[in-house]
Formats: sequence, C-alpha cells, structure tokens
Amino acid sequence: MLLIILTNTSTMKQAHILTGTPGTGKSTVADLLEARGYSVMNVGNLIKEEMLYDSYDKKRDSFVIDDDKLNAALTKLIEENSSPFPLVLDGHVVRLPPLLVSKCIVFRCSIRNLRQRLVVRGYSESKIDENIEAEIMEVILTDMMQLYGKDLVRVVSTDVSIEKTFEEVLANLAD
Ligand SMILES: Nc1ncnc2c1ncn2[C@@H]1O[C@H](COP(=O)(O)OP(=O)(O)OP(=O)(O)O)[C@@H](O)[C@H]1O
Ligand SMILES: [Mg+2]
Repeated sequence: MLLIILTNTSTMKQAHILTGTPGTGKSTVADLLEARGYSVMNVGNLIKEEMLYDSYDKKRDSFVIDDDKLNAALTKLIEENSSPFPLVLDGHVVRLPPLLVSKCIVFRCSIRNLRQRLVVRGYSESKIDENIEAEIMEVILTDMMQLYGKDLVRVVSTDVSIEKTFEEVLANLAD
C-alpha cells in the first residue's frame, strides 16, 4: 500500500507557487520565467475570468474567493500543463494541498520600496496601509510556512535588482 502511494506521489504533476504581498514582484519574475519556457498562470486573472469567487468586497476592493472552486481549477491546470517544468502559479491567494506543490517562493520587500511601488500604482491610502501592514506582519510567509513547511518555502528579497532576484528564484526552483 505504501509503495503505491509513493509511486503516485513521485509521478504527480506539481506547481511552483510565487506568492507575496501585492507589489512585491511576483508577476515581474513570472514574466521572466515564462520567457524561459515555464507555463505561467496569473491566479488573480483566472479568478476573475472564471468567476471563482463568492462575492466582491467593495470596502477592501477585492474578491472573496471560493477556495474549493479555485483549487479545482488549479488542479486541472496542473494536470493539463504540457511544459517540461512545473506550472508556475503567480498569486497571493493560492492554498493548494502540499502534494501539489513543488516550491513556494515568498517574495519580500522593504516597507519603503513597497510603499513606493504601491503609490506609483495609484492605490488608495487605505489599500496601501493594508498591504504594508500585511508585509510587516509577515501574513503570507506565516501562512505558507504553516501550510508547506521550510523545505518547500523559500524567501526571496526584491530589494535588489530584478536580475538578482530572478537568479535567486531560479536557484531555489532548481534545488
Ligand atoms: N528585484 C525585483 N524583483 C521584482 N520586482 C521588482 C524588483 N525591483 C523592482 N521591482 C519592481 O516592483 C514592481 C513589482 O510589481 P509586480 O506587478 O511584479 O508585483 P506583484 O507581486 O505581481 O503584484 P500583484 O500582487 O499586485 O500582482 C515592478 O514595478 C518591478 O519593476
Ligand atoms: Mg502580479
């Protein structure tokens, strides 16, 4: 019985998760991975296009996601991925079961840089404050560590050049 489980796990297709507070640099790195031949899915776009949400929270300017629907859609995409690499999921709301996850890269950013990036985007003060607070409190990192543990979770700084961040991501995905 144990042998069957191990065999299934080793052949199971998986995803790399790129996560982190909005503005930390997930999509910037996802674009570079796509140029290297990875299949990439922007999870926020998928949620909107396939309406994988329960409702829209006007006050927080964000969708309230239906986790079951999202995980079903992501599992299907992982299975259908025909690239030689794990599917790259770009989004801060992914909570797939650990068996489906190869690596989970958590992007971090200094408060100063993050604020600047979000101001440039034209975000409201309340939305900027909410995201800054989440970054200070390490909300996503804590959640991902609880879910996947330190073997799968890698922290990457984006307070350096994009090239340096990208190199670090590639090294983490490869090991
Ligand atoms: N080392 C770095 N790595 C990634 N992005 C960087 C880096 N240095 C500066 N940036 C800039 O930070 C911004 C990150 O924006 P990006 O859209 O990639 O963030 P995101 O995490 O995908 O946000 P969201 O969750 O809202 O989609 C870009 O303008 C990018 O050029
Ligand atoms: Mg993005």
